[in-house]
Amino acid sequence: MSWWPWRQNPWFETVLEAQRRAKKRLPPSVYAALVAGSERGTTPRDNTDAFAELEFAPHVAGHQPERDLSTTVLGIPISLPVLISPTGVQAVDPEGEVAVARAAAARGTIMGLSSFASKPVEQVVDANPNTFYQLYWTGSKEQMIQRMDRARAAGAKALIATLDWSFSVGRDWGSPSIPEKLDLKSMVTFAPEAVRRPGWTLDFLRSGLPDLTAPNLQPPDGAAPTFFGAYYEWMQTEPPSWEDVEWLRKEWGGPFLLKGITRVDDAKRAVDIGVHAISVSNHGGNNLDTTPATIRCLQPIAEAVGSQVEVLLDGGVRRGGDVAKALALGARAVMIGRAYLWGLAANGQTGVENVLDLMRMGLDSAVLGLGHSSISELSPADLWIPPEFTRTLGAPVAAPRPRRRPAASSKGGSSATTA
Ligand SMILES: Cc1cc2nc3c(=O)[nH]c(=O)nc-3n(C[C@H](O)[C@H](O)[C@H](O)COP(=O)(O)O)c2cc1C
Repeated sequence: MSWWPWRQNPWFETVLEAQRRAKKRLPPSVYAALVAGSERGTTPRDNTDAFAELEFAPHVAGHQPERDLSTTVLGIPISLPVLISPTGVQAVDPEGEVAVARAAAARGTIMGLSSFASKPVEQVVDANPNTFYQLYWTGSKEQMIQRMDRARAAGAKALIATLDWSFSVGRDWGSPSIPEKLDLKSMVTFAPEAVRRPGWTLDFLRSGLPDLTAPNLQPPDGAAPTFFGAYYEWMQTEPPSWEDVEWLRKEWGGPFLLKGITRVDDAKRAVDIGVHAISVSNHGGNNLDTTPATIRCLQPIAEAVGSQVEVLLDGGVRRGGDVAKALALGARAVMIGRAYLWGLAANGQTGVENVLDLMRMGLDSAVLGLGHSSISELSPADLWIPPEFTRTLGAPVAAPRPRRRPAASSKGGSSATTA
């Protein structure tokens, strides 16, 4: 027991408890930035709710005493099939992405680093050599080459290209106002929120205020852009064609993961242009609202391209059981976003380790109950999948079968039966 019996045990037993603590600890607008979502918020809700629609088919005996949860992603061995998804987080924790990278390294997994992150790629790779660097299609090709060169030189092991963003705006519940930089005026505006969250504010005051720039987008001869400056550049950039994506892959030259796929035809195009991995993702439901939950889109995509590329999934993963379900439907591994952000906000690096431990324990419990000795044995037979569950997007629609003409009955009525 702690010397301070009134202190809460910092260990949390589920990700939802971490979220509750994050909500209590963070200033409301910082918390709202993590909740994200867009428009009605339908997609982030479906991302999580859809997992609960899938039901397990556990065995009662014959369980395996030892279970292997390890795998590889793009050639990198990891101790559990859960990666850190890149998120452009600022101001959740003073150590930000470096704390997350350390936690991922301590638990034997891969760190995904956003190019909109608050810490430089060099520091993050130092904290976790198994870092994947994430890029959006933003700026000129020369700028993209310079950013990729920098990430490669830092030691990033793969490139994640996130291409699903289409600049949807507005949330029915309102968007947080985030300052462009922390000058006197914005500090005065933010002060009432900071006062309401003294623990968080003190942590930041001790380690210096966040500068709210995107250091990984800094040109060789200038200052790092602010988050909003970087966003503006992105909005001004012409969207990429498939040829552009192929160009990006060739310029990177190493392992390449295309993130944001929800359609079977896009997955096949990705294979055609030579990507090595895809993530079935809808950006955590932050973009085009009413895109279906990624877990609904996974199985048809995995069946179409799973033998040619590594198929990952992200969106809505909150428990180890969710990981088991995604693997059963064909994912090699999953990436988590909000789950580790809640952990980071609740308890820094230890909080992220706590989340990864929960994922491991929950996955192990599912693999045990399902009677397997390895995650590679998970399959759709481990689940009950409701009839209307799956969404096959972007696959040729089968031609409707011709309707049989109603058979004339002796009474002159018509049968209601159709073929
Ligand atoms: C606050 C926030 C910021 C994000 N920033 C990025 C980003 O910079 N790059 C990216 O590829 N994805 C970004 N994402 C999407 C995540 O990588 C991931 O796809 C998503 O969070 C998965 O859904 P989940 O949060 O339900 O786990 C962000 C998500 C959130 C919640």
